[in-house]
Amino acid sequence: MVTIRPCQEQDLVLLRAYIPTPGQPDRHDKRFERQQSGRSTFLIAWAGDLPVGAGEILWNGCDAPEINQHYLDCPELNGLDVWPAELRSQGIGTAIISAAEDLARQRACHRIGLGVDDHNPRAAALYLRLGYQETGRRYLDRYHYFDDDGIRHEVADPARFLVKQLELTPGPPDH
Ligand SMILES: CC(C)(COP(=O)(O)OP(=O)(O)OC[C@H]1O[C@@H](n2cnc3c(N)ncnc32)[C@H](O)[C@@H]1OP(=O)(O)O)[C@@H](O)C(=O)NCCC(=O)NCCS
Repeated sequence: MVTIRPCQEQDLVLLRAYIPTPGQPDRHDKRFERQQSGRSTFLIAWAGDLPVGAGEILWNGCDAPEINQHYLDCPELNGLDVWPAELRSQGIGTAIISAAEDLARQRACHRIGLGVDDHNPRAAALYLRLGYQETGRRYLDRYHYFDDDGIRHEVADPARFLVKQLELTPGPPDH
């Protein structure tokens, strides 16, 4: 059983210790900074006192301009990860996705998107099973990492964008 909640500053120590970010040593910190600036919500999954997964809702949508221009008002769930790998396939990823969708509904978002790299068919299968739909929009998922010698590498992975329509819960009736 996991609980999902937005990252707090004191969580960063445990995140750095328990969820590795190979080649991106300040990844958790960057995500927390984005959350604090209001651009994202950095969700953490907890099993007791230990962080076991994370995902970030980018409220301004996918960073890639080739997607963003078509999906205004569509937040993106980015960088979903469950760690350690032995904890995968137990519903933690689904719980993070569900929490992200709830937050998007609370902000009256009618849809939420996510990108999936071409080399990740298992993740794509999960998203499609959870109601995300193909948009036909493709893009390059760009990021960088540092190797053991401190050399920076730029990556551009071919990816596609999926979107789920969100049913908004009606509020209480007016009197
Ligand atoms: C993708 C991921 C976040 C899903 O989280 P999860 O907790 O394993 O997901 P759930 O248990 O809720 O659902 C499991 C389903 O996820 C899918 N899946 C995707 N990648 C998977 C992986 N590496 N291992 C296991 N299941 C994976 C499968 O369809 C799986 O269904 P199955 O259990 O019937 O095989 C997680 O597997 C993970 O961290 N993978 C590595 C990082 C990654 O690929 N992130 C996604 C970037 S788009």
